[in-house]
Amino acid sequence: MALDSPWRSDFPALAAFEAEGQVYLDSAATAQKPQAVLDALLGYYTSGAANVHRAQHLPGERATRAFEATRTKATHWLNAHSPAEIVFTRGATEAFNLLAYGLEAEFEAGDEIVISALEHHANLLPWQQLALRRGLRLLVLPLTAEGVVDMDAARELIGPQTRLLAISQLSNVLGCWQPLTELIALAKVHDALTVVDGAQGVVHGRHDVQVLGCDFYVFSSHKLYGPEGVGVLYGRSEALQRLRHWQFGGEMVHLADYHSADFHGAPMGFEAGTPPIGGVIALGAALDYLGSLDTGALFAHEAVLHGKLLAGLKVRDGVRVLGTPQAALASFVVDGVHTADLAHLLGEQGIAVRAGQHCAMPLYKRLGLTGAIRVSLGLYNDTADLDHFFTALDRALELLR
Ligand SMILES: Cc1ncc(COP(=O)(O)O)c(C=O)c1O
Repeated sequence: MALDSPWRSDFPALAAFEAEGQVYLDSAATAQKPQAVLDALLGYYTSGAANVHRAQHLPGERATRAFEATRTKATHWLNAHSPAEIVFTRGATEAFNLLAYGLEAEFEAGDEIVISALEHHANLLPWQQLALRRGLRLLVLPLTAEGVVDMDAARELIGPQTRLLAISQLSNVLGCWQPLTELIALAKVHDALTVVDGAQGVVHGRHDVQVLGCDFYVFSSHKLYGPEGVGVLYGRSEALQRLRHWQFGGEMVHLADYHSADFHGAPMGFEAGTPPIGGVIALGAALDYLGSLDTGALFAHEAVLHGKLLAGLKVRDGVRVLGTPQAALASFVVDGVHTADLAHLLGEQGIAVRAGQHCAMPLYKRLGLTGAIRVSLGLYNDTADLDHFFTALDRALELLR
C-alpha cells in the first residue's frame, strides 16, 4: 500500500529534488530543512544580524533573546535540568573534541576509556588521540551478530579502571539501538563518566537525558532538520564542572589581563568566539517544527517505511543487510557485486544513497567488508521513493550480473 508523507510538502528541497529526478535517501548524512527553518535563518539575517550577549542595542538584544530561546528549547527537548547544561558547539564532532580535551585532566596513565566497535570516527578518534596523549587504554566493546553491544563482554570489560564510556545511541551503519541504559548503569557502578553519541538517535526517538542518566549527550543540528554548523552538548551540571576550558577567546572570559584570565563556567565558558547565531536560532525553529508534529504518527511513519525498506532488500537475491536495523536506515552489500559499481549505477539513476565506510572504518574492517551502501530515511520520504530505489537497484543489478 502506498504511504505518503504528510510532512513532505513542508520541505522545499523535496520538490526541487523531484523536479530534477533525484530521490533523496541520505538523511543520516544530512537532513533536508523544513520551510520554518529556512524562514528562521533568512529572518535572522533580513531583520538584522547582530552579535549576541553584551549588546546594548535592540538588534543585539533581539538576537540574544532568540539565541538563548534555542538553549531553552534544547533543554526541554532533552529534558535537561537547566539551560546552563546546554552548550552550543559547531557540530557533534566539535563536542566530542571539546570533551576529549576538557576531560583530559581526569585521566592518569593506565586508566581505561571504553567505546564500542561501531562508533563513528567522531566518537572514536578524539578518545583514541586522548588515549595516545595520556597513555590510557582504549577498550572496544564487541558486538553481537545482530549489531548491538555484547553485554556479557561489556560486563567483563567495564570495570574499576574504566574512567569513561563513550557510546553511540543508534548506529549510523547498522541502524541498531544500543543497550544504553544497561551500559550506563554498568559504567556508573564504577563511577565512570558516560558520553552518548546521539547524532542519529536524536532524530528517530525522543530521549530524556535524566532517564538515560548519562553525563553527556551530543547531537548535530543538521541531522535533526536544522542548519549545519551547530551542535548541542548536554552535560549534567556536575559533569560540566569537571571540564577544563579548551578554546579561548571572546565571550568565554569573565576577566582578562595580559598574564592571567578568569573564565566563565558552562555554558558560556565553552562557547568561545562568535557562535553560529543564525544557525542556533534556526535550530530552535527546527525543534519548534518537530515539536508541533504528532510524534507518534511521525515515528510510526518511519517504522512502516523502514519495514518496507528491509522487506524489499530481503527478497532480493544476494542482498545482505548488515546487522539487524531497527530504525530509519539499512546498509547492505550484494554478493558478487562491487559496492562502488552499484553506487555509481544508483547515482546515475538519480538515487541519492551513501556508499563507503560511513566514517566507521574499524567497524567495516571487523565485518570484513570494504564498504556498503546505506539507504537512510527522513520524515519526508514515502513509498514512491522506495519504489524508485528498488527499480533502480534491480536495473543496476541486472547490468552488473
Ligand atoms: C553516529 C554519528 N556520530 C557523529 C557524527 C558526526 O556528526 P557531525 O559530522 O555533524 O559532527 C555522525 C555523522 O554522520 C554520526 O552519524
